[in-house]
Amino acid sequence: MCGIFAYLNYLTPKSRQEVLDLLLTGLKRLEYRGYDSTGVAIDSPDNKNIVMVKRTGKVKVLEEAIQEHFSGADYSEPVLTHIGIAHTRWATHGVPCERNSHPHRSDEGNGFVVVHNGIITNYNDVKTFLAKRGYDFESDTDTEVFAKLVHHLWKTHPTYSFRELVEQAILQVEGAFAIAVKSKHFPGECVASRRSSPLLVGIKTKTRLATDHIPILYGKADDKKLNPDQDTDSGKQQVLPRSESTSEFMPLEEKEVEYFFASDASAVIEHTNRVIYLEDDDVAAVRDGTLSIHRLKKSLDDPHAREITTLKMEIQQIMKGNYDYFMQKEIFEQPDSVVNTMRGRVRFDGNAIVLGGIKDYIPEIKRCRRLMLIGCGTSYHSAVATRQLLEELTELPVMVELASDFLDRNTPIFRDDVCFFISQSGETADTLMALRYCKQRGALIVGITNTVGSSICRESHCGVHINAGPEIGVASTKAYTSQFISLVMFALVMSEDRLSLQQRRLEILQALSKLADQIRAVLKLDSKVQELAKDLYQHKSLLIMGRGYNFATCLEGALKVKELTYMHSEGIMAGELKHGPLALVDDSMPVLMIVLRDPVYVKCMNALQQVTSRKGCPIIICEEGDEETQAFSSRHLEIPRTVDCLQGILTVIPMQLLSYHIAVLRGCDVDCPRNLAKSVTVE
Ligand code: F6R
Repeated sequence: MCGIFAYLNYLTPKSRQEVLDLLLTGLKRLEYRGYDSTGVAIDSPDNKNIVMVKRTGKVKVLEEAIQEHFSGADYSEPVLTHIGIAHTRWATHGVPCERNSHPHRSDEGNGFVVVHNGIITNYNDVKTFLAKRGYDFESDTDTEVFAKLVHHLWKTHPTYSFRELVEQAILQVEGAFAIAVKSKHFPGECVASRRSSPLLVGIKTKTRLATDHIPILYGKADDKKLNPDQDTDSGKQQVLPRSESTSEFMPLEEKEVEYFFASDASAVIEHTNRVIYLEDDDVAAVRDGTLSIHRLKKSLDDPHAREITTLKMEIQQIMKGNYDYFMQKEIFEQPDSVVNTMRGRVRFDGNAIVLGGIKDYIPEIKRCRRLMLIGCGTSYHSAVATRQLLEELTELPVMVELASDFLDRNTPIFRDDVCFFISQSGETADTLMALRYCKQRGALIVGITNTVGSSICRESHCGVHINAGPEIGVASTKAYTSQFISLVMFALVMSEDRLSLQQRRLEILQALSKLADQIRAVLKLDSKVQELAKDLYQHKSLLIMGRGYNFATCLEGALKVKELTYMHSEGIMAGELKHGPLALVDDSMPVLMIVLRDPVYVKCMNALQQVTSRKGCPIIICEEGDEETQAFSSRHLEIPRTVDCLQGILTVIPMQLLSYHIAVLRGCDVDCPRNLAKSVTVE
């Protein structure tokens, strides 16, 4: 999805060239989120104007355009204070083109320029209102109305501060957004805000920050909505500090300071690890180098201040290192990422598991009516993969739901339901909407996320952070295996005091202790998988069949093949073969089957025979040394034996590798598949 990056240097000399380099690097770090066009805005050399450069396509194209645009101009002179804003756009309103790219401007003089993520749902109403007042629109976007609305408010309320103008504009718009605004009328100032779309502020100072908290300030007329028809400033808010907050927390007033406004932490980590995650309806404003955070509405449970947190992320985690692609790196990181998910939680010597983020809620969870696991795409598949084990070890009904479908159905939810929201990014709009839906109905909300500070993380009552490390490749890989393990750990915690289940728990714990080495063994199949990819990459389709604990691998494998290679692929429940899919099988249809020595082995063998007797020639994923199964095909991948409920972790890795190699052979963009975004923040 779209990405915002803005950079403000206060009393910290930087040439415009340096500012542009910073903005471009910020955009490059956000590339993985998915986008189709880009743009930047900085001050002109005489500081009288704002210059914008926008392009369709990759950041590289923008970089070249910037070089061309500024060739001949001297951009090397340092500026003490300056604000630059930049954006990667993933088209929602209007096709990807230069005209629709951000920043969007308020008027021909570029008085106010805006970068925006999300969707302003009432943009048509605002547009009509502004059109009546003589505003012409030059793009098809919802964002442009925001820039023009701020301009209109500025004209009609000349005494308003920059922040007050943006606040009033925010009061008029509906929907989801993160915005950063720059203005030539308010040089050196930046105002940013969010609602249901992530935004953080990174802070870099020469010396240690004087405070760990920024007080929250409130408007006096909290709920007063400005009447956009009213051409006076009588609706002006007087923004006063909340009295009790000023004594406890100091405002952030630094002499020399740099601020970074970004959609996610990966864009700021190389500059600073000190960040504030903005909450919905926070308005962050920098003026004279001072950062203040304001809220539009006062609510009783608001904290008095926003905390400045220290990011745990390392810069190496967001670099490709020696790998060709992030996805490849992330596949090969799995022996470590699964250990990180278990670190400090699983004690193999004492057979004990502690999930600190949910331990206080376990008694309540044990009393619940049912468990609901809700997510999208790969995250949903991790729920499918662990459902059977959760049913077995919790002895509770377990429902697995796609967030979008769950919402469409207005699914009944009760106060004694426990709802898990599984999301790598923690920002997926459908999952977040489903979370809010369940929370409103009184259910206990458990977040399973990979992104600290994300919306799902913050809005959950409790949760498990999967600790897989930043996942940059759009196709999810290591997050899947870590989500899988987090849910397995939860099942083990829930069955801690069940005597009849102790043997089973022990078996699983022992298997978990061997998992990292077994994943390493599976990764050694890489060159063999690459050879198989050479057989497959020119085909149009790939059917992936399995059942029981491996059905989720079929779904996840097919999703990986589709999104990375643009080939058709389908995950087929082997038990359903005779009910339709068998008609697809002949001697030319590529088929992959997962046949492991588990309780459904005989049934899987049955399916295998059905396929081979229709002249199908499947690739088989089977257990090491299983000659009986291997006899059915010359093409097979052998994986180490593990406990049935963890097989899915070992069987999904060949599928990740296979989709990766097919994508490379087909010349596809492995890390940024077409039309896709890493973090899907629109419904
Ligand atoms: C597929 C993939 C997507 C995501 C889905 C949910 O490889 O990455 O299907 O799994 O968009 O995203 P999160 O987990 O961030 O909620």
